[in-house]
Amino acid sequence: MRQLIAGNWKMNGLRAEALALASALRQSADGLGCDILVCPPATVLGAVADTLQGSAILVGGQDCHAAPKGAHTGDISPEMLRDAGARWVIVGHSERRQAYAESNAMVRDKAEAAMLAGLLPIICVGETEQQRLAGAAETVVAAQVDGSVPAGFTGVIAYEPIWAIGTGRVAEDDDIVTMHRCIRDQLVGTLGESGQGVRVLYGGSVKPAGASTLLVLPGVGGALVGGASLNAEDFLTIARSAA
Ligand code: PGA
Repeated sequence: MRQLIAGNWKMNGLRAEALALASALRQSADGLGCDILVCPPATVLGAVADTLQGSAILVGGQDCHAAPKGAHTGDISPEMLRDAGARWVIVGHSERRQAYAESNAMVRDKAEAAMLAGLLPIICVGETEQQRLAGAAETVVAAQVDGSVPAGFTGVIAYEPIWAIGTGRVAEDDDIVTMHRCIRDQLVGTLGESGQGVRVLYGGSVKPAGASTLLVLPGVGGALVGGASLNAEDFLTIARSAA
């Protein structure tokens, strides 16, 4: 299975910066042995998609509403993302689960709506530091997978321990392997045999320095990269480390 290296730009990038980053990525992205995806802010998604058209770099949104259209001020539907050039969308990022109280059921509805609109969802799961210290990481994450993954799932899962996001602290190799195995088992439990084919990414302070060690760990199907995806050279170095 080809690994997926996905960049989550979060709330970063005015038009000029975003287009400069997209152009820099485009220039050096040929011949990579992995799939490569960028998720820019919605305001520049169309322009970034235009810049990357015809290149190997895929484009995605960072969130979507579960409805195709309607009275939802400020929200963006999966159809709108697709119309702007996206083929992927992140749903259930911990920053949204925490700041907007998104439940597993809401995340599942968004993922389902995304698939209906022809987008591939990246469903994020991950435990807090407290949950890990209490020995509950596997239970919490398995419940998130079971509650957030819709039937017939075609997307990928990103395992992102919340305490590792933006902190410079990467989970231990052994813990990453254990958590990825737990997620795989739950995917098979939830989806049946098709759960074997779902890629599971690791996310949380992925940087160029540790990427080659991370990406060869058993069960790791790629990486979801935040901060380091805002620098073309760093992001490409991570992509070149893909197994
Ligand atoms: P980070 O973010 O790489 O900056 O830790 C990862 C994420 O939130 O997806």
